[in-house]
Amino acid sequence: MKRTINIETSKHLGEKVKVYGWVDRIRSHGKLIFFDIRDRSGLVQVVFDSKLNPEVFRLAKEIRPEWVVEVKGEVKKRPQGMENEKIETGNIEIQAEFLRILSRAKTLPFPVNTSGYEIKEEIRLKYRYLDLRRKRLIKNLKKRAEVVRFMRDFLQKRGFIEVETPILTKSTPEGARDFLVPSRLYPKKFYALPQSPQQYKQLLMVSGIERYFQIARCLRDEDPRADRQPEHTQLDIEMSFVEREDVLELIEKLIVNLVKEMFPEKKITETPFPRIEYKKAIERYQSDKPDLRKNKSDPNELAFCFIVDFPMFEWAKKEKRWKANHHPFTQPNFSSFEKEGKTPDECLREMKVHPEKILSYQYDLVLNGEEIGGGSKRNINTEVLLAVFEVLGHKREEIKRNFWYYFEAFSYGVPPHAGIALGIDRLLALFLNEPSIREVIAFPKTGDARDLMMGTPTSVSEEQLKELHIQIREKNGN
Ligand code: AMO
Repeated sequence: MKRTINIETSKHLGEKVKVYGWVDRIRSHGKLIFFDIRDRSGLVQVVFDSKLNPEVFRLAKEIRPEWVVEVKGEVKKRPQGMENEKIETGNIEIQAEFLRILSRAKTLPFPVNTSGYEIKEEIRLKYRYLDLRRKRLIKNLKKRAEVVRFMRDFLQKRGFIEVETPILTKSTPEGARDFLVPSRLYPKKFYALPQSPQQYKQLLMVSGIERYFQIARCLRDEDPRADRQPEHTQLDIEMSFVEREDVLELIEKLIVNLVKEMFPEKKITETPFPRIEYKKAIERYQSDKPDLRKNKSDPNELAFCFIVDFPMFEWAKKEKRWKANHHPFTQPNFSSFEKEGKTPDECLREMKVHPEKILSYQYDLVLNGEEIGGGSKRNINTEVLLAVFEVLGHKREEIKRNFWYYFEAFSYGVPPHAGIALGIDRLLALFLNEPSIREVIAFPKTGDARDLMMGTPTSVSEEQLKELHIQIREKNGN
């Protein structure tokens, strides 16, 4: 007999079926025992009757929650008044004729048939594989897969090519700290894990790909925050021969269609998404991530906006130096100087003397007060790029040594290009009304960057260290 998944059982009224799953809830009424059996599709009720099948009934009495079982029996209509509207198979039950225990289970550290919000997160993450048995989290993972599939379809239909870029790469100045990987073959040398595919996607524009995207894992050794993970996933996009508005229009269309198809219960406050200059946002909302919802207690309102015309640089007080507001590859906007009749050289001089005056072609996508995407039109003028790096405190020689491939690539014919990346974890958390991005990631790290389930980070063996030419020195000099 072939397996029937739980949700399909109600289509087989009067027929015999075989189901598999975990025992969810057990109710014992003397001579009758009821189980809810849970599989990937949902719940179905099974009845064991001591009169009809005494042997099977005896075995059923042994069963405990979360044991894995196989059950065969006839699908019957439930007696009138015993229907359960809360589950899809609530009109039927399976009259058990056969029961096999496939795996026993210890008592779980927490219930899995609740929302889970009531349980301490540390314990949920330690037993994440059990936590993921929860209906809410399965739904989130399913929705995540569907959203990603939607993004892929949407972009492929418009001629975008999905390209994978390396995970072992080079330390880059994206603004966060790099995770480093020591090289075994090259002593004292390191790879860096990518903070984003930024440089690769720009190099793909030099290759003539024109329309690139990737569902990209990005790794950043940042200080923890509620909406940050050491690794997050971006929908990463880059396009050639486009202006800012082309990128914003594409993203807006993608989001509007996505909401319509996948989250029809949601209402977008305003389309086209307002484009707000950074300066105006700060003046009006004291924030570059304004929450433009009309009614903040409505869980189904989505208020998007694009913030544009950011300053190119920001002063980092702690480090006492200029940092790129977005990243160094963004094009500075000299249009106000050009209007004053300044030459390109004068513009560069002005940027070096007054970095605070320079705006850029950066844009952010904001949803309900959170930054869910960022991008820019890129700087393809290598003289201007050198000047930007100089403002950031790098020496000319050092820049050329570190980024020679980039400057070299741009000397072989580079198309004007622009791009953006959406934070998929943040987007989903907001769409699914989840309080944290950890609720939409299968195996997230804790707020302090640990994996409590596997116990990472861990120490490694002496042999592994030796192979990597690494010696650990204790702080006191040992
Ligand atoms: P940016 O650094 O702005 O841009 O990242 C894009 C979006 O990714 C999300 N995000 C994160 N989500 C979870 N945890 C994190 N630690 C985290 N960091 C970022 C945010 C953010 O808006 N290469 C550029 C894009 C480009 O210029 O095309 C980039 O990575 O939602």
